[in-house]
Amino acid sequence: MLNFTFHNPTRIHFGEGQIAAIAKEIPSDATVLIIYGGGSIKKNGVYDQVVAALEGRKVFEFSGIEPNPSYDTLVKSLAVIRENKVDYLLAVGGGSVVDGTKFIAAAALFEGDDPWDIVAKQQRITQALPIGAVLTLPATGSESNTGAVVTRHGNKLPFASPLVRPKFAVLDPAVTLTLSDRQVGNGVVDAFVHTMEQYLTYSVNGKVQDRFSEGLLQTLIEDGPKALAPETKEDLAVRANVMWSATMALNGLIGAGVPQDWTTHMIGHELTGAHGIDHARTLSIVLPAVMKVRREEKREKLLQYAARVWNIHDGDEDARIDQAIAATEAFFTKMGVPTRLSHVDLGESDIEPMIVKLAEHGMVKLSEHRNITPDVSREILRVAL
Ligand code: NZQ
Ligand code: ZN
Repeated sequence: MLNFTFHNPTRIHFGEGQIAAIAKEIPSDATVLIIYGGGSIKKNGVYDQVVAALEGRKVFEFSGIEPNPSYDTLVKSLAVIRENKVDYLLAVGGGSVVDGTKFIAAAALFEGDDPWDIVAKQQRITQALPIGAVLTLPATGSESNTGAVVTRHGNKLPFASPLVRPKFAVLDPAVTLTLSDRQVGNGVVDAFVHTMEQYLTYSVNGKVQDRFSEGLLQTLIEDGPKALAPETKEDLAVRANVMWSATMALNGLIGAGVPQDWTTHMIGHELTGAHGIDHARTLSIVLPAVMKVRREEKREKLLQYAARVWNIHDGDEDARIDQAIAATEAFFTKMGVPTRLSHVDLGESDIEPMIVKLAEHGMVKLSEHRNITPDVSREILRVAL
């Protein structure tokens, strides 16, 4: 196992009715900015529960954060924050709202000239406003991690800082009942791929991390389809398992002390940046191709994945790996997401512009071995055709 330091201080309030817990988390003299997206929280009662829990505090609102939050939208909140001396941010929504709030928290106290430098130049953040999160879409893990992704003019770029990790997060599985099937499928697949990016590398004998990861993958395989099936989709136990899996998949736990490979995400970001494809749907297209192209580098872990996650024990090594990749693709298909570029109407001629962007964004040494060059990324996208 590799050395690591693990510290995740986000306090989680999990379960039905837990939105009320905001009342004890946010100081009674705080001036709060509620930050949300396109309005789903107004239709499903989440907004009303949040406002009730904040009773007695000075509260302002900033809405309109879009999926894949855009810099241009986010910076508009800074005037509201300054004008009203906001000192606590409450993100209410999915990963885009939580990520956007993280950027706002850092930008509000940024001392440099241009807050875009936080992302573009990876300028270190020295202070940020405190954040709380009410999660409405289980997927990204953003509610208890340090990362965020922001888009500006087709450039989708990540940044991270412990200062933007939410102080607390409310996870009420009941609020996920209003998600569309598309968003449920996306969320399950995003959490699945987060787990894979921290698992499917090479062994460092991290038994706890491996078995936690395998448990999360199996839970998502078992309960993900149930969250879509008409007879089980309203089952709160199913929603709870999906929700907790998504948080655990990217809260730092399973990735501590093991190598990681975020190739699928980094190539996926270019697919979203250039073509606006939902985040998870880029991952379901890229991951199977990464498994195929990196089969030798990942051989040992692919065999472990085949045996422990899919119970594949028959055939020689290559046959077992083939079956595991096919099972992964079949699972994605069951979750309603595409597995090929052709499924989203992209072809050979769309590959080169994405390779140019990857290089522009410095994504030239990807993977656990830092040897996925733009040439290997091109091969991955070709295999994904
Ligand atoms: O905007 P509203 O009206 O709220 O609607 C949203 C949005 O249209 C809707 N929605 C959310 N909760 C709902 C709901 N609709 C009905 N009922 C509910 N309970 O769902 C739509 C999609 O929301 P979004 O927040 O965009 O989805 P997701 O949570 O998948 O977040 C995706 C973003 O997170 C980033 C992605 O790149 C992408 O920008 N990621 C962040 C990560 C992190 N911080 O660690 C890691 C991930 O890999 C990912 O990159
Ligand atoms: Zn993701």
